[in-house]
Amino acid sequence: MKPAWVGICGSDLHEYLGGPSLCPTTPHPLTGETVPLTFGHEFSGVVEEVGEGVNDFKVGDRVVLQPIIYDGTCGACKEGLINCCYSNGFVGLSGWGGGLSEHVVVPESCLYHLPDNVSLEIGALVEPLAVAWHAVKISPFKAGDAVLILGGGPIGLSVIQTLKAKGAEKIIVSEVSPRRKEFAEQFGAHYVLDPTKEDIVARCRGLCEGQGVHVAYDCAGVQAGLNQAVHSVRARGTIVNIAIWEKECTIVPNDLVFKERKWMGVATYVKGDFQDVIDAISKGTIVPDDMITKKIELDEVVLEGFEALIKDKDNQVKILVKVSGAS
Ligand SMILES: NC(=O)c1ccc[n+]([C@@H]2O[C@H](COP(=O)([O-])OP(=O)(O)OC[C@H]3O[C@@H](n4cnc5c(N)ncnc54)[C@H](O)[C@@H]3O)[C@@H](O)[C@H]2O)c1
Ligand SMILES: [Zn+2]
Repeated sequence: MKPAWVGICGSDLHEYLGGPSLCPTTPHPLTGETVPLTFGHEFSGVVEEVGEGVNDFKVGDRVVLQPIIYDGTCGACKEGLINCCYSNGFVGLSGWGGGLSEHVVVPESCLYHLPDNVSLEIGALVEPLAVAWHAVKISPFKAGDAVLILGGGPIGLSVIQTLKAKGAEKIIVSEVSPRRKEFAEQFGAHYVLDPTKEDIVARCRGLCEGQGVHVAYDCAGVQAGLNQAVHSVRARGTIVNIAIWEKECTIVPNDLVFKERKWMGVATYVKGDFQDVIDAISKGTIVPDDMITKKIELDEVVLEGFEALIKDKDNQVKILVKVSGAS
């Protein structure tokens, strides 16, 4: 496949900054590769060659890549949990090239067709939206529930859109950055709170019959937010941790025990999530276009991509890089 549009995300930035990273420093068990690797795991593109026995794709098809690399043989994979594969990795983070490569060779199971009414640009947004879709799908959320979302970055905004599509009636977002608060409102949050100025727990209880929200999605990954999430959730409510933490955090078990609250982790997506997101975009139940805050060329990726996401994070949601398959 020839990559077309590539989204830059926090995992790429960690690698760029040399911080804690998902990329392997010893050979990855499935790809055998180590850093340096080619970036890009959020991307669309065009099929340029098909291998023997491939029936569902032909040259010229517009596709989006589901980047999980899995062994298919471990217990988790056999149960369909490829996202939890004991050897898993990602195209663009663990090897096999990435969105910023000129060509990428992947199994057909990694590819999904884009319908005629979904552009290649929007195709590059399917991956972060699928993270949110999966999180909401495996959480106990049901239509009509009240929810709290911590963090209005690309993932938090994707959770808002997914919850809107699935009938959430009270979406409360906690976010510190002024521009990201505006984005949260634009994508459908009913209440946008500032944790530096407001008591999040009191507000959630006040807005939800004195009890608090049914489900909280942690898309921030900071201790202060986690503390607020735990106490903003009602009895038997659930805190869904989507964040990838940069350091250890503290949970007070008794805060869960005495209200029978649950805290669960969610990781990426499984089969079905990509197709669900593509269908939702095609039908118009999710309209994510405004998540794209900037489109840049490949030779601008350092200054206008990585550096912009670090220095101008508040004003950016998704920066897309245009690569060879887009023209
Ligand atoms: N589980 C998965 O499969 C998966 C997949 C992709 C990303 N992630 C993780 O999800 C998280 C969100 O991703 P992102 O790209 O949106 O990150 P991001 O850093 O762009 O967004 C996080 C947001 O949280 C806000 N924030 C910081 N402190 C806060 C606080 N105390 N209360 C409320 N908001 C606060 C920040 O202002 C920021 O806008 C990251 O930790 C990322 O690594 C997880
Ligand atoms: Zn496996």
